[in-house]
Amino acid sequence: MPLVSTRQLLDEAAKGGYGVGAFNVNDMEQIQAIMEAAKETNSPVIIQASRGARAFAQDNYLYHLMLAAAELYPQIPLAMHLDHGNSYETCVSAIQLGFTSVMMDGSLKPDGKTPASFEENVEVTKKVVDYAHERGIAVEGEIGVLGGIEDGHGAGGSGLDHVTDPDQAVEFAERTGVDSLAIAIGTSHGAYKFTKKPDGSVLKMDLLIKIHNRLPKTHLVMHGSSSVPKDLQDIINQYGGKLKETWGVPVEEIQLGIKNGVRKVNVDTDNRLAITGAIRKVFVETPEKFDPRDYLKPARAAMQKVVALRMTQFGQAGHAGDYQAISIADMAKGYANGTLSTKPLVAAK
Ligand code: G3H
Ligand code: 13P
Ligand code: ZN
Repeated sequence: MPLVSTRQLLDEAAKGGYGVGAFNVNDMEQIQAIMEAAKETNSPVIIQASRGARAFAQDNYLYHLMLAAAELYPQIPLAMHLDHGNSYETCVSAIQLGFTSVMMDGSLKPDGKTPASFEENVEVTKKVVDYAHERGIAVEGEIGVLGGIEDGHGAGGSGLDHVTDPDQAVEFAERTGVDSLAIAIGTSHGAYKFTKKPDGSVLKMDLLIKIHNRLPKTHLVMHGSSSVPKDLQDIINQYGGKLKETWGVPVEEIQLGIKNGVRKVNVDTDNRLAITGAIRKVFVETPEKFDPRDYLKPARAAMQKVVALRMTQFGQAGHAGDYQAISIADMAKGYANGTLSTKPLVAAK
């Protein structure tokens, strides 16, 4: 199957009532781990790369690795997504490279740190939507700001500092025509999200449900959705790591989100933990080894295990064969003739 649009994957997920994990990658082994997990569970898949990943791997390597994945797994619908695009130019460069969807994260200014105004966010997101839809590429916007900082990206502070306002979410969706909407409900990027198992005072699932009730057909996106499992923390610490005690987003809360309009679930940290734990284990247990394959293979297997589990938990498992790819050219026609709607259904308060 050629690379497909995230919009198609999310429309199908909405029909089937499931969520799709969007997993971050920086290198070949991570792409391999995700594709093997997708094959194992028969799942459609979104692979995403941040600006940091693009800088680390270089665009051409990343793109050709994605093409290799599509070629090697023709039965798997596969979308290539830009995570946290910081500007119109970043999104355009991703689209020109061949990404099939982009996130324009206009919740922050282009420095990726300072919260932007609502009007700034609408303006830049709409500009990206106009450029992208003409070319059949889907756009994710963000309203509200997540907590934490990852690789220099993020406003810092608590996940509760800038949670999404439902009225603004409605206005944002109406004025921009985004295909999917990331919302801030108390989560943060990275491992340090919560200091104890989160309850409704810090993880605002009630707010998510409120937004879904106002925008019942809009595909919602949950960022910062790693669960930061204790067993993965323990492996790292057992083999010389120094992680402080921390909690992520419990899988059952993500599943509640999926019942309430969440279609894309962003996971990076859990895979980072799995990889690091596996590598540390090899280094400590067999310090005489020095062939990178001796630690990259278990690292890749550990990531595959996490991804396969999440694919099953999010409900996308078993759905790879449900549909045929719509070409990006046909997606462009769909946006132009209105069969791919960009007008959200808005319910009264
Ligand atoms: O949103 C953050 C993702 O985990 C990507 O992180 O910017 O360090 O590549 P990164
Ligand atoms: P985590 O840090 O929780 O894995 O979140 C990843 C993410 O939101 C990528 O956009
Ligand atoms: Zn994110």
